[in-house]
Amino acid sequence: MHSLSKDKINVLLLEGVHQSAVENFHAQGYKNVELLPTALQGEALLEKLKNTHILGIRSRTQVSQEALSQTSKLMAIGCFCIGTNQVDLNAAASHGIPVFNAPFSNTRSVAELVIGEAIMLMRGIPQKNMALHLDGTWLKTAERSYELRGKTLGIVGYGHIGMQVAQLAENFGMNVIYYDIESKLSMGNARPCATLDELLTRSNIVTLHVPETPETQNMITQKEISQMLPGACLINASRGTVVNIDDLASALEAKHLSGAAIDVFPQEPKGKDEKLTSALRGITQTLLTPHIGGSTKEAQANIAVEVSEKLIKYSDNGSTTGAVNFPEVNLPPHPNSQRILHIHQNKPGMLNALNTVFGQLGANISGQYLQTKNGVGYVVTDIESQQKGLNNSHFKNIEGTIKTRVLYA
Ligand code: NAI
Repeated sequence: MHSLSKDKINVLLLEGVHQSAVENFHAQGYKNVELLPTALQGEALLEKLKNTHILGIRSRTQVSQEALSQTSKLMAIGCFCIGTNQVDLNAAASHGIPVFNAPFSNTRSVAELVIGEAIMLMRGIPQKNMALHLDGTWLKTAERSYELRGKTLGIVGYGHIGMQVAQLAENFGMNVIYYDIESKLSMGNARPCATLDELLTRSNIVTLHVPETPETQNMITQKEISQMLPGACLINASRGTVVNIDDLASALEAKHLSGAAIDVFPQEPKGKDEKLTSALRGITQTLLTPHIGGSTKEAQANIAVEVSEKLIKYSDNGSTTGAVNFPEVNLPPHPNSQRILHIHQNKPGMLNALNTVFGQLGANISGQYLQTKNGVGYVVTDIESQQKGLNNSHFKNIEGTIKTRVLYA
């Protein structure tokens, strides 16, 4: 692929991606930006992709191996969400297409929900609310109703979200302790625990903010719950597999725990037509939410800015920082040089073959960056001064070439 001037680059944004993405592309000189409110599938998607260079989707557009193999123009995909399962990532990489997402733009939204839930659980609001709704029962009592102030919040996973929760909780006057497998620099007065057991035995509220890994699968089962303080609450807005739901339901029914707020489930309905199956349904001291911890307007706007910036940076300068399927190269600007992006199958001799071509062209290399991942190699070469007539035909005969782009200063 030869580099195009920005007015020839077509950007297609689907699924009602937030308007701030469109504004960001326009501000950076990309005029051909089409925003559609819905997902596209099958033939409709294939037809559109024929003339699309940059594609933006959310979770409903499936970008399969088949779709990727029928598009020659597509150079990058942005998932305007956290998950990237809707794209065949390996196929995208093998077609030289980096895929970007926005893993941290909804951090604050999750943290706020967790604090709100902590208050609701400590006051027994789920069951009081339910009693009024169901038959008007007036549970007016201060029994087992507490302030957050002075209580201990135990955060499991002190990462982006865990740290924000900690800060908000401290503002409520809570004591914050955390457990993480990595050693972390504490913010505020938060204190680390040496073990998960220590955290469980000291916390009035335990909130989980770990990723889904083999180690976090069933991290909280009957054994861990039994170590929690009698009357403590559990919040999970991380991943559904972290908590054994049947064990949690038993502990709530036995009144060992006084409440739980669960936003994520081991099996989640795929859409509105499917119902949630869970042992927690009907247990009134639980707050159940449909995986909306990060779903706010602000998060959508942040996601739109974050992902469009990554796409623009890749298109303008070749940087692939934050790509989920692709070698990550973070590149400086190239004000006085010409930049050549070469994506190839990762095998021995590629750099040599590429540099032989530069040598034959008499081009003086001023900088070169190489990364490899998942069978794909990505070399970015800056050459001094503009080499007239340089285009992808100079590189396409190098065996193993997937894609080439020539950028201009
Ligand atoms: P992060 O990667 O910034 O932090 C995760 C932390 O957990 C890291 O500090 C890591 O060292 C720690 N950790 C990993 N394995 C651990 C283990 N076995 N024991 C203790 N600590 C462990 O991730 P971030 O952004 O804070 O997200 C946390 C979770 O929240 C993720 O599972 C993510 O999928 C989920 N999430 C849920 C949303 C929702 O809508 N409910 C929205 C956004 C994220």
